[in-house]
Amino acid sequence: MSGPTAALKREIPRVPGRIPEAYRVAIRECGRGRAPWPLLLLGTTGSGKTCAALSVSDFVLGTRVFFSEEDFQNALSATMSGQMMEERPGFRTDRVLTVKDIWDHWADATIAILDDFGQRRDTKGSGDLLYNAINKREHKPLIITSNLKWTEIAARYDDRIVSRLECGTMADGFSLADMR
Ligand SMILES: Nc1ncnc2c1ncn2[C@@H]1O[C@H](COP(=O)(O)OP(=O)(O)OP(=O)(O)O)[C@@H](O)[C@H]1O
Ligand SMILES: [Mg+2]
Repeated sequence: MSGPTAALKREIPRVPGRIPEAYRVAIRECGRGRAPWPLLLLGTTGSGKTCAALSVSDFVLGTRVFFSEEDFQNALSATMSGQMMEERPGFRTDRVLTVKDIWDHWADATIAILDDFGQRRDTKGSGDLLYNAINKREHKPLIITSNLKWTEIAARYDDRIVSRLECGTMADGFSLADMR
C-alpha cells in the first residue's frame, strides 16, 4: 500500500527567489504575524503554489506535514482499515496507526500544508476534510493551495468552511503565468 505522504516532498526543486510576488507578500505577512492563518494560495496550474508552500516549510525548524487532499484522504482511509503505514518521519511505526494519530500529527506539526485542495469530485468528503484540517490548525501555520477560484470555493463549500477561510489570508494568483 502507499502510506501517507506526510514526509515533505523533497524531490520538487524550489527557489525562494522564484516565488511569485502575489504569494511572497502574503507569506511574509503571515510569517511575521501581521496577517492571520490559514494562508490560501490560489491560482491556475503552474502558478507556483506548491513550490511556494514547500519553500516556506524549508525555513521551518520543527515538524512539517504535507498532504495533498488525495493523500490525506488515502491516509485516513488506510488507517481506518487498519493497514500498517509506511515508515515516514514523524510517525511511529511499531504499531498500527489510528486516524487520531494522523490528526494529532497534523495538529501538532509546526507547519501544515494542504496541497491541491478541491480536486476531488466528492464535495461532501472534501469539505469534511477541509473543515477538520482547518479546525485542528486554529491559530497555527497552515497553507492551503487550490486551483479553485474563491467564488468557486464559496459556492461549493458550506458557510462553516467559507467563514473560517475568510478569517485567514488569501493570495490570488490567477493572473500569473504557468511556470512549467
Ligand atoms: N519557487 C520556485 N522555484 C523553482 N521553480 C519553481 C518555483 N515555482 C514554480 N516553479 C516551477 O514551476 C513549476 C510549477 O510550479 P508548482 O508545481 O508549484 O505549481 P502549482 O501552482 O502548484 O501547479 P498545480 O496547480 O498544477 O499544482 C514547478 O515544477 C517548477 O518547475
Ligand atoms: Mg501544485
